[in-house]
Amino acid sequence: MPADITLDDHAVAVPAEAIAPLIRGVAVLRQLTDAGGMLSLSGLERGTGLARSTVDRITATLARMGYVRLDGRDAILTPRVMELGNAYLAALRLPAVLDARADALADELDESVSLAVADRDGIRFIHQATRRRAMSLSFRIGDLLPAERTAPGPLFATEWTDADWRRWRERRATDPEDRGFPAVPVRSSPPGPDFERSAVQAREDGWALDDQLIEPGLVAVSVPVRDPRTGTIACVASVVSHTSRHTAEDLRNTLLPRLRVAVGAMEDDLRETPQGESVAAPSGLATWTGASKQELGREFIESLARGLTVLTAFGEGRAELTLTEVAQATGLARATARRALITYEHLGLVAPSGDRRFTLTPRVLSLGFPPLSRTTLPDLALPHLGTLAARIHEPASLAILVGDDIQYTARVATSRVMSVNIAVGTRFPAYATALGRVLLADAPPTDRDLRPLTPHTLTDPTALATALETVRSQGYALVDEELEVGLRSVAVPVRDRTGRVVAALNTATHVSRSTVEEYVHDILPELTTTANDIEADLRVAGRFTRVPLS
Ligand code: PHB
Repeated sequence: MPADITLDDHAVAVPAEAIAPLIRGVAVLRQLTDAGGMLSLSGLERGTGLARSTVDRITATLARMGYVRLDGRDAILTPRVMELGNAYLAALRLPAVLDARADALADELDESVSLAVADRDGIRFIHQATRRRAMSLSFRIGDLLPAERTAPGPLFATEWTDADWRRWRERRATDPEDRGFPAVPVRSSPPGPDFERSAVQAREDGWALDDQLIEPGLVAVSVPVRDPRTGTIACVASVVSHTSRHTAEDLRNTLLPRLRVAVGAMEDDLRETPQGESVAAPSGLATWTGASKQELGREFIESLARGLTVLTAFGEGRAELTLTEVAQATGLARATARRALITYEHLGLVAPSGDRRFTLTPRVLSLGFPPLSRTTLPDLALPHLGTLAARIHEPASLAILVGDDIQYTARVATSRVMSVNIAVGTRFPAYATALGRVLLADAPPTDRDLRPLTPHTLTDPTALATALETVRSQGYALVDEELEVGLRSVAVPVRDRTGRVVAALNTATHVSRSTVEEYVHDILPELTTTANDIEADLRVAGRFTRVPLS
């Protein structure tokens, strides 16, 4: 790789102490992110300019960390990689304090509302409460937009230094079509109104408009949310609409006053929320890497794995860390932690924050977050269902409760001929299925019409209540031939971060294949392991985004 490849707008010499494998690993993560979360290994080779053997070792290392999944010739980002962006968002604290207000405003106005932070000469979204209709593109958490094509941009530019303006002019000169911003369509029309003038206007008004700067139809109005302690802009709140519902003029007259009220409440929240308590430091984040090196040998790049754990040392109550604190949290030698921080500073992912401390920058969100921020529970579960089905040689399914029915949301079949062939979307009465019993066991009791579907179906409400009690105490449901003669199914719950059962996971077989005891003994641990894996992904993915259940 040429020495001047950096992820910056202009080439800066790589510091002698930078960790080269970490720079390359970050380049691979960014390439995968810009490609939408999936790229072939040869695509990665072309995109990064790295040798194929290097790409292979980096992706093997990222796979070991759970950040990518290798599927044939493709590398695919996995939800776990969101822990990097989560570290930034947790340290920033703004989402935890402000997301609910943004969501409430979106509900009130029935329009999209977003929160964005400044990222050099761009803006980067940290929250999206999306109500957007199919008419316009909508942005994801972590997407970067050129400041001059947005409403938040001129507001942030009111705080730009001369160096910031210089950087902006240089970028405009070298990238006139915005090709460095994969989230926006390339700029085809001549530049809109003078951005420098917009910034002056924004300073005067205290708000700013985007009148179709990104694409025809897309309009937005923005107001800064100021940090009560410093008076500087913490983030910018925007209401986004479409000209078919509101002209830009309309946004200003009807929605701006309501946005301002919401921003006032956000600033109150910031004032009243106590500064994050210092949270207990993680320790030894990087201690597992030695064992992986032992196991994988040459294919595992330990310096990359160790370096990436440095980002997860930051978090809630841990926004600004000293070198010593980073070394403690990761278990890395000070010299290694220091080189990782130098590398990240070079890459623009970490910035010094005074008093010999370091902080994560919004650019950390460019490491995998946007393509995964819209993951649904079925997306997230599918690879795990595939692993389970391959291990047990039986189909694996995920279902949710819809009224009194279960509905299949993800399924991996096996080649064995099954008596039931079930497509995603299929519904069955919940009371007669193992999936349903797991879901009903965590739902408020209601009266149900318990029709017999086979001679074995439980139709007595008291017997069903007892069965649900058993499910709650033993943690799984086994149902024999109550939906269909010959069919045996066992299911376990899938819980979200709060412990609520959001889905159920099952497999099914023919009753003649084994006894109930053998079946439970063999299959239940596999199901439980898979449920745990899905739940672990859901905890990471669901920390700052809403994960749809279907
Ligand atoms: C958005 O939230 O998608 C958004 C915000 C401001 C803009 C454009 C889009 O100017």
